[in-house]
Amino acid sequence: MRVAMIGAGYVGLVSGTCFADFGHTVTCVDTDAAKIDNLRAGRLPIYEPGLDQLVAANMRQGRLDFTTDLAAAVADADAVFIAVGTPSRRGDGHADLTYVHQAAAQIATALTRYTVVVNKSTVPVGTGDQVERIIREANPAADFSVASNPEFLREGAAIEDFKRPDRIVIGAEDPRAQEVMRDLYRPLFLNQAPLVMTGRRTAELTKYAANAFLAMKVTFINEMADLCEQVGANVQEVARGIGLDKRIGAKFLHAGPGYGGSCFPKDTLALVKTAQDHGSPVRLVETTVAINDARKRAMAARIITACDGDVAGKRIAILGLTFKPNTDDMRDAPSIVIINELQAAGARIIAYDPEGVDQAKQVLRDIDYAADPYACADGADALVIVTEWDAFRALDLNELRKRLRHPALIDLRNIYPPEDVAEAGLRYWSVGRPSGAPAADDPAQ
Ligand code: UGA
Repeated sequence: MRVAMIGAGYVGLVSGTCFADFGHTVTCVDTDAAKIDNLRAGRLPIYEPGLDQLVAANMRQGRLDFTTDLAAAVADADAVFIAVGTPSRRGDGHADLTYVHQAAAQIATALTRYTVVVNKSTVPVGTGDQVERIIREANPAADFSVASNPEFLREGAAIEDFKRPDRIVIGAEDPRAQEVMRDLYRPLFLNQAPLVMTGRRTAELTKYAANAFLAMKVTFINEMADLCEQVGANVQEVARGIGLDKRIGAKFLHAGPGYGGSCFPKDTLALVKTAQDHGSPVRLVETTVAINDARKRAMAARIITACDGDVAGKRIAILGLTFKPNTDDMRDAPSIVIINELQAAGARIIAYDPEGVDQAKQVLRDIDYAADPYACADGADALVIVTEWDAFRALDLNELRKRLRHPALIDLRNIYPPEDVAEAGLRYWSVGRPSGAPAADDPAQ
């Protein structure tokens, strides 16, 4: 089948490349000519494990191409995917659909035969109806259907998620569209990936419901972590104890500094707004948003407490800036709020991140960057793990202690056993666990 993917951002690039890898012929379209030139030369705009090889292999085999010419890509496509950004609209949290609407208008005039226009961008309920209206008005003679096919890719594991999904959700009422979508995903059905074929509005809402539920799950365990600290319990064991119950499930129960990224913060807010607009508020999600916002600030306060209540003039070393490992994405990363708060309290920040520094430089100011974790710790008054990159999981703790000016390790991802840290002579604060090296001012005690 022939596929046009409008938007060569994260979702478009991963989805387009994986469809090509299934054997379809895919053209990714983007308005950014420099990005397209780079892609054609094998340079990717994002970091995603395995994606560069997959792009190169499929380009070599002639199944994947990149262009700025939307009309040419759409003209002979069986399916045109809209995978453009839907940022939060400034001020009110609603998803900004400008790019989706623009794409729909451009697709409209490029259609030459029956085509399924598929929304892959995360869009509020009813957006499929709008896309249909825009195309119909711009090109009344066009033969097309509009479907919704939300993505559930996690950054850092996107290829695996695309190729081995828990489920595929397709919202399409028209049987012709259902058939095209089935053909596109046929390689996955052979692996028995469940297909949820449903109405367009249901598919649109399913995406938001999934992200909101996961955000709520993370927030729940974060609140349990706070409670664990107060009652002397261990949140990792609580998570294991509840996660083994199949009705709850073990995933997304890692306590940490709060969720971030390009999806959960934006999608929870958009769902809250949609629900309010329809007079059916989702109060659990509203509360989740508020708790998560407060949590990032609370993490900064925790670091300040660990530094004897004052970070003015102190050098704080931060390991991990991206919102999670295996990505260079800094969007809504907890590190941003934490670092801003620490700087506001007078701290000097030195940071290390394996992939995120270029992006971090766009959003953070007045930071020194270290070449590796040990250089980061050099002469610092505290070392803080904000993102759990694998490279931070087996650091030489004795070496860190020697490098630090004050032997304080604040681990916001619980990646070290408290005993090991204590043994290395470091004072240790983690999240929702008893501290290995109790100190008078230890907030976990
Ligand atoms: C999320 C969803 O997991 C994907 O299914 C969805 O497709 C994607 O959003 C999207 O809408 O595009 P992603 O934002 O890449 O994926 O990241 P996650 O792995 O879900 O992590 C989100 C945040 O929650 C991160 O800040 C992470 O550190 C945090 N988190 C996650 C925790 O603090 N604890 C956990 O146990 C899990």
